[in-house]
Order: sequence, then C-alpha cells, then structure tokens
Amino acid sequence: MNLAVFISGRGSNLRALLDAQREGYFSSKICLVVSNKEAEGLDYAREEGIDYLVSKDDKEIIRTMKDKNIDLVVLAGYLPKISKDLIDNFTLINIHPSLLPKYGGKGYYGMNVHRAVFKNGEKTSGVTVHYVNEKLDDGKIILQREIDISKCESAEEVADEVLVVEHEILKDAIKLLEEK
Ligand code: GRF
Repeated sequence: MNLAVFISGRGSNLRALLDAQREGYFSSKICLVVSNKEAEGLDYAREEGIDYLVSKDDKEIIRTMKDKNIDLVVLAGYLPKISKDLIDNFTLINIHPSLLPKYGGKGYYGMNVHRAVFKNGEKTSGVTVHYVNEKLDDGKIILQREIDISKCESAEEVADEVLVVEHEILKDAIKLLEEK
C-alpha cells in the first residue's frame, strides 16, 4: 500500500513507522507526509527525502494524494477535523492514546487524555487504532492494546508508557491491513 502519514506535531509515530519501513516490518511505503502547519515532525520526512505537504486545504491534499496513488491515510497526531471530502475519497485510520470508546471524542486529544485518565485513578489505559468516520474517535476498531498504568505517578508518566505502545501498535496495524 502507498501510505500518507498526517501529523501536526512532534511526529514520533511517523518516526516509528519510518523505522519499521526501513526494517522491512511491513511492505507498504510512506509516500507522503502531510501536516497542517510547520510541525517538528516534518524534519523526519526531510531527513528521509520523503515528499511532504504543509497545507490546510483539503482539496489540495486530496489532489496531491491522488497524484501519488495513496491507498491508506494514517493519522498520527493530526489535529484538524477530518472533512467528508477526505473520508469519501480515501480510507483513513487514526491512532488514539486511550482504550476507546473511553476517553475519546471532543476535547480528548494529547495530554488531555492522559490527564483525565490519571485524575480518574484508572489502573489501565492503552492505545486504539481505528478507522476514521465522520464522528470523532468513533470508527471501527482495528487494533487495541491495554497497558497497566497502576504504578504511574503522573499524567506525564502515563503518556510515556502509552507512547511506547503507540509506536508498536501502529506498525502492527499497517501489517494487519496489508494481510486483509
Ligand atoms: C499521540 O499520542 C497520538 O496518539 C495522538 O497524538 C500524539 C502524537 O504524537 N493522536 P506524535 O506526534 O506521533 O509524537
């Protein structure tokens, strides 16, 4: 599959996918990185010589992805709302740092998720990779992994534990979709 990876920030999940690609963990190829702003993670695309696009214009994004024959869009920390236009034209998956449907939906992104999980005294958290539909964090679940966070002493520690699993599960999800 030809992949496009969408980011908005530091891009550690993109980095994990690039590493997995180099190791031959999956056969798909990251052909394009898209960001809605000059994100830190774009440096990974530059370092690897992968085409990237900084744009907030979905029409331009769709056009670029069609030119590159993108088969699958991977949202990896991409913050803008996903338009119907994108959903109608491509299959999209998203990585979310909680056990959806818990801690999903409006306002639950980034550290907000981990702060809420920690504040509620949850003993477990986890990661979900799911298809994207028009409702936030609502699409069919592809993979989910639970982790023990009972020893975590802050929301930051929860985030660190969860991130390690994010980097594993995202490449697993790509591999799983390749086998479908
Ligand atoms: C990750 O926690 C991801 O699950 C969430 O946003 C964060 C992005 O991290 N959707 P990074 O930019 O991949 O480092």
